[in-house]
Amino acid sequence: MKVREILVTSALPYANGDIHLGHLVEYIQTDIWVRAMKAQGHQVTYVCADDAHGTAIMLKAEANGVTPEEQIAAVKASHETDFSKFLINFDNYHTTHSEENKQFSELIYRRLNDAGHISTKDVEQLFDPEKQLFLADRFVKGTCPECSAPDQYGDNCEVCGTTYDATDLKEPYSTLSDATPVLKTSKHYFFNLPEFEQFLKDWTRSDNRLQVSVANKLQEWFDAGLTSWDISRDAPYFGFQIPDTPSDEPDKYFYVWLDAPVGYMASFKNLCDKRAGTENALDFDRYWMQENEHKTEVYHFIGKDIVYFHALFWPAMLAGSELRTPTGVFAHGFLMVNGEKMSKSRGTFIKAETYAEYLHPEYLRYYFASKLSDKVEDINLDLEDFMQKVNSDLVGKVVNIASRSAGFLVKKYDGMLSDVCVESELLEDITKTGDEIAAAYENREFSRAMRLIMQCADKANEYIDGKKPWSLAKQEGTEQEVQDVCSVAINIFRQLMVYLAPVLPELTANAKEFLNIDDLSFASRNEWLLGHKINKFKPLMQRIEEKDITAMVEDSKASLTQADAPAVTDNDKPAAKDKTPANVDAEQTDYIGIDDFAKVEMKVAHVLECNHVEGADKLLQFTLDVGEDKPRNVFSGIRKFYEPEQLTGKKVICVTNLAPRKMKFGISEGMVLSTGNPKTQLTVVTLPDNCVIGDVLA
Ligand code: 2FM
Ligand code: ZN
Repeated sequence: MKVREILVTSALPYANGDIHLGHLVEYIQTDIWVRAMKAQGHQVTYVCADDAHGTAIMLKAEANGVTPEEQIAAVKASHETDFSKFLINFDNYHTTHSEENKQFSELIYRRLNDAGHISTKDVEQLFDPEKQLFLADRFVKGTCPECSAPDQYGDNCEVCGTTYDATDLKEPYSTLSDATPVLKTSKHYFFNLPEFEQFLKDWTRSDNRLQVSVANKLQEWFDAGLTSWDISRDAPYFGFQIPDTPSDEPDKYFYVWLDAPVGYMASFKNLCDKRAGTENALDFDRYWMQENEHKTEVYHFIGKDIVYFHALFWPAMLAGSELRTPTGVFAHGFLMVNGEKMSKSRGTFIKAETYAEYLHPEYLRYYFASKLSDKVEDINLDLEDFMQKVNSDLVGKVVNIASRSAGFLVKKYDGMLSDVCVESELLEDITKTGDEIAAAYENREFSRAMRLIMQCADKANEYIDGKKPWSLAKQEGTEQEVQDVCSVAINIFRQLMVYLAPVLPELTANAKEFLNIDDLSFASRNEWLLGHKINKFKPLMQRIEEKDITAMVEDSKASLTQADAPAVTDNDKPAAKDKTPANVDAEQTDYIGIDDFAKVEMKVAHVLECNHVEGADKLLQFTLDVGEDKPRNVFSGIRKFYEPEQLTGKKVICVTNLAPRKMKFGISEGMVLSTGNPKTQLTVVTLPDNCVIGDVLA
């Protein structure tokens, strides 16, 4: 077998927030893959780092009253603690705020610049005159230019869904100081992505580098046309200064997303330096120099929201600076909990640390493995199903095989297994399934691997149930048979430990001790345990108790502060309008369950009055009878399309359980449903006269 030299990365978490279960999907997926490839005899190196730069981290440090360096050091330590609890076995964990990263970022930039791939342009942006900094979209709020909803972010309106530029907001204010931002122009540096269009088209379509849905998404971006990428940010910024800029101009910094992926190389270099001169020494150039591209493999595991950076900018940056490009980029979907987005108020926004206080991390590793495939699909952690599955598969099926056979062997045969295998066909069958399991791991079809493993466990349990060693043991003259049956069971259990080792490293390490073996590599399963002595069995896994899940959810509700909310952990992410295309597969996966739909209450409403709203050229005001004691007041952004008298007296549909919204002109107590596009034409949905006011739509 050819030993492959493989470098693997997971996306670098931002150094300003805690690790939560959503993050863990990726680290667990990558870690399982790395362990499975190592178990198949390959030389695999897994590196990661904290993503330490950007405005959000700078501001978080300021808010915490510490320097950015102190801030990122503390977060890094806490990330590493969390990762080790979940048995994520990085070969190296570094930071992007490192000397290696500075050098590689500068090297790449200089090479791109020398080759003419960098240009400059004046950019006009909102600027906070009090804080003296340029405001990214999410640091500006104001009134929606479309529907006049107040307090909307600088990129899109959460009320009407319109996307716009921050400069379009009415009455804008800085969320950092409340000051009114002013427009200010400054010079920005751009990476000329369109110059790489042909390279990227070829790269995307060759060598199975990308999943099909990702490649299709890229095609859409090509069709829409690539644009140059703004890679600079003005001071003050926490990051690396761009080298070789004119000395009479203000300092410019690399945008965090420029040096973040370079962090993969930097972490690897840091590891090469640590290992230099040891028997595990690694050769940096062998992995990153263009001429060695075919000698080694580099894979990036990422979330579907950052495909744009990894499948366009990053390969273009590498190719443009004459470095090797990744062998593959593997995107996964988002985590849902109980069928919905993780939610603070429901207690399903669960931090890694909180989970680990109540539940064993290997439960989650197994559950994620049983859900993950090679597709860019969201996965759902259904907490009830999680408990059932872990208890039934791992405790009920797998561990049970050992616990029901080991006792007899240790008590009656001093732990000795039979010298011969009396069920070699069964054992051969399970050994052979190992080839399929290994392939499923390599292809990232973990759910398939788990299904195959559980089928093997079922076979073992059927075998034991059929032989009933506990009854046999009570009969005369069956000593050999009891030993033989239990030995078969223990041998199958050993195979299962080999197959599950990438997912359950701790459980299988304990099983290794019990089995008195020193190897759980895939190849080791071919040597059956004959005439071999095992040790006393100790319980390997406890059942999940419902009360622990409940306690974890309650704790999550209680422990999350505003500062932990996901929006704040986003570090200088592109605005929603830029990000939308990166939401690969969103069309397929943004479902809501029937329960969510049932939450929306819609009623037949009679329009008692409809009026213009003074000072709001987009709104109409409705007084609606929805069959309650009092009529409701509702504003709707349809002024452009209707005169009030066209709607007075009509029956319309009102969403009646929408939280009341305070607007400049009064409180809106619902929503009138229309169809169409708020920019071009909206048509209010009207109902036949015989509909009964207050009736619920179902
Ligand atoms: O989206 C994120 O969380 C980024 N911190 C990921 C960076 S991955 C790599 F490019 F560094
Ligand atoms: Zn709006």
